[in-house]
Amino acid sequence: MKAIQIREYGEASVLQIAEVQEPRPRQGEVLIEVKAAGVNYADILMRRGSYGRRSLPFVPGFEAAGIVLQPGPGVTEWKPGQRVMGTVLRETCGCYAARAVMPSWLLMAVPDNLDFEAAAAFPEVFITAYLALHVFGRVQPGESVLIHAAGGGVGTAAVQLAHAMAARVFGTASSDEKLRRIRVLGADVGINYATTDFVDELTRATQDEGVDVALESVGGEVFEKTLRCLKPLGRLVVYGTSSGAAPTVGVPELMTGSINVAGFTFGGLSLMRPDIVRDSMNAVMKFLADAKVHPVAGHKFPLERARAAHELISSRASFGKVVLVL
Ligand SMILES: NC(=O)c1ccc[n+]([C@@H]2O[C@H](COP(=O)([O-])OP(=O)(O)OC[C@H]3O[C@@H](n4cnc5c(N)ncnc54)[C@H](OP(=O)(O)O)[C@@H]3O)[C@@H](O)[C@H]2O)c1
Repeated sequence: MKAIQIREYGEASVLQIAEVQEPRPRQGEVLIEVKAAGVNYADILMRRGSYGRRSLPFVPGFEAAGIVLQPGPGVTEWKPGQRVMGTVLRETCGCYAARAVMPSWLLMAVPDNLDFEAAAAFPEVFITAYLALHVFGRVQPGESVLIHAAGGGVGTAAVQLAHAMAARVFGTASSDEKLRRIRVLGADVGINYATTDFVDELTRATQDEGVDVALESVGGEVFEKTLRCLKPLGRLVVYGTSSGAAPTVGVPELMTGSINVAGFTFGGLSLMRPDIVRDSMNAVMKFLADAKVHPVAGHKFPLERARAAHELISSRASFGKVVLVL
């Protein structure tokens, strides 16, 4: 079958189209005909070899939407022909391909009004954003939430979910055009953190109060400055380091401000607490069914152009999700 294969770690040019063997579903897995695959920032880290090393060669990709071809042993809830979207466990990947196997429990039915490209842009970022806002951030109606990289994949999902949870939403991004677009998605205030000091801007916008919750995925200086944006007893949820600079936490600062810091990975939680992930999947499906949120499949590329898809995300010019179409 046709797939993108990584034979060596490196820049986007290592993403090569290849003929590879079709995977077989094992116990609890489902074989899917992939119609579209979501591209995630973690795919870039994995391609570089900085997100857990796989044995080479391998097919990247954590999420996809498509049609059930063959339920594996023990799978009764999915039938051939059903439209599904979902993620794989981190150690497997394999979604940049004509066919992929996915754990049955990580699949969701694609609603009739969603095409496969939109569906491939949904699972990873909405589940991650929900975990960050609800499970770790414990956002309550009327609270304020700061979302960094708000124009990104997780960011655009988090802006919509936080707005739907009746929170006041502050989003940062590196361009005014992204800020204009996140306001359409429900952000109340947009801050350009490339051209202004976001701590000053946020302090002004909150009348010196700060926010209840902050979602942080950039790292480095952005993390450190975000600690200054929180109210007493504020909650800082960390789920990424897109800048490559892993932050360190100053415990005295946390004690002084009575700040909570929480971190998580969707992949890790899928192994440790599948019950929490399952509940989050149900919750985001309800937001989707109620038309409170929608996937933002901002950019589409044919599978063969996976390299361009990765380069677009690295350039920081993407808005919403980048999707590969088969
Ligand atoms: N913990 C988890 O389970 C989990 C799950 C999914 C994603 N993540 C993490 O969440 C983050 C967002 O993931 P995503 O797939 O949705 O990606 P994305 O947000 O679509 O893309 C990354 C964005 O980060 C911002 N950014 C800030 N500094 C950057 C830098 N130095 N280099 C590149 N981008 C930078 C850019 O937006 P601006 O230009 O507007 O700043 C860029 O568009 C990533 O760190 C990812 O690893 C974690």
